[in-house]
Amino acid sequence: MASYPELQGRVALITGGASGLGLAAARSLAGQGMRVAVADLDAGAAERAAMALGPSGGHLAFSGDVASQGDVHGWVAALLARHGRIDVLINSAGIPDSFLPTVEQDVADFRRLVDVHLTGTYLVTQAVAPTMLQQGRGSVINLSSVAGVLGLARRNAYSAAKAGIGMMTRTMGCEWAARGVRVNAIAPGYMLTPFAQRLIDEGKLDAARLRRRTPAGRLGTAQHVAEAMTFLASDAAAFITGVTLPVDGGYMAWGAASDAYEGPLD
Ligand SMILES: NC(=O)c1ccc[n+]([C@@H]2O[C@H](COP(=O)([O-])OP(=O)(O)OC[C@H]3O[C@@H](n4cnc5c(N)ncnc54)[C@H](O)[C@@H]3O)[C@@H](O)[C@H]2O)c1
Repeated sequence: MASYPELQGRVALITGGASGLGLAAARSLAGQGMRVAVADLDAGAAERAAMALGPSGGHLAFSGDVASQGDVHGWVAALLARHGRIDVLINSAGIPDSFLPTVEQDVADFRRLVDVHLTGTYLVTQAVAPTMLQQGRGSVINLSSVAGVLGLARRNAYSAAKAGIGMMTRTMGCEWAARGVRVNAIAPGYMLTPFAQRLIDEGKLDAARLRRRTPAGRLGTAQHVAEAMTFLASDAAAFITGVTLPVDGGYMAWGAASDAYEGPLD
C-alpha cells in the first residue's frame, strides 16, 4: 500500500463499512492514520469493524440505514460532535438486485434498490457536503459498478442506480470543484467480497465464466478497490474529480466476441 502522510489525523465516514469493499477501505484509511467512522445497517458488524481498527484511533461505529435521512443526519451530527470535521466520505453501502426477469420484478424491490444505492449516496453526500465546503477540502468516493456502464439483463434496478451514481458523481464533482471538494466513483468489476461470494454460492454469478470474460483472468479483491479509494482520498488525486474509475482487471475495456482470457483457471 502506498503511503499518504497528509491523511494522518483526517476523518472519514464509510457507509457499508462493516463488510467487503467498505471494510477494506476502513482498514486502509485507518492504516494511513485516519480516524474512521463505520456506518452500517448491521450494528454488531459495524461495532466489530470499528473495534478491529484499533482502540486508540478515535474510530467510531454507527448503525442505521443510508436511505433514512434521520439516520444519516444522526451519524453526521455525532461524527462532527466527536471530531469536528469530515475529510473523506465513502458511499459503499449496497445490496444486490433480484436477478429476476423484468416482467417478474417487484416494484417494491426496484424502489428499495434505488433507495439504498442512489438515494442513499445522495443523502449521505448532501449531509456531509456543507462541512467539506466550509473546510475547503473533501473527497467523496462513490461505488458504481460495471453494471452502471454495461447492459446486464435482470439487473434493472441495480444498473439504473449505479448509472445514476456515475452521473451524480459528475454533477456534484462539477458543482464543488472550485471549492476544494472532489467527488469521484469507482466502478469495480467482480471482486470477491461477501456480496459477490453470496451471488456465486446462489448460482447467480458463474465465477469461471466471469474469469474468462475478464482480461486479467481472475476476480479482484477488496484490497484492489481499497488501494484506489485511498489514492482518491489522498492529495495525490487533487486534480481528479467527476471521474468513474474502473477497477475491473480490464473487464470494461474488452469488446471482442471471444473470451478475454484463455489461460488456466486452476
Ligand atoms: N463486490 C463486488 O464485486 C462489487 C462490484 C461492483 C460494485 N460493488 C458495490 O460496492 C459496494 C460494496 O459492496 P460489497 O461487495 O462490499 O458488499 P458487502 O455486502 O460485502 O457490504 C455491503 C455493506 O453494506 C451494508 N448495507 C447494506 N444496505 C445498507 C443500508 N441500507 N444502510 C447501511 N448499510 C447497508 C451491509 O450491511 C454490508 O455491511 C456496493 O454498493 C456494491 O454494489 C461491489
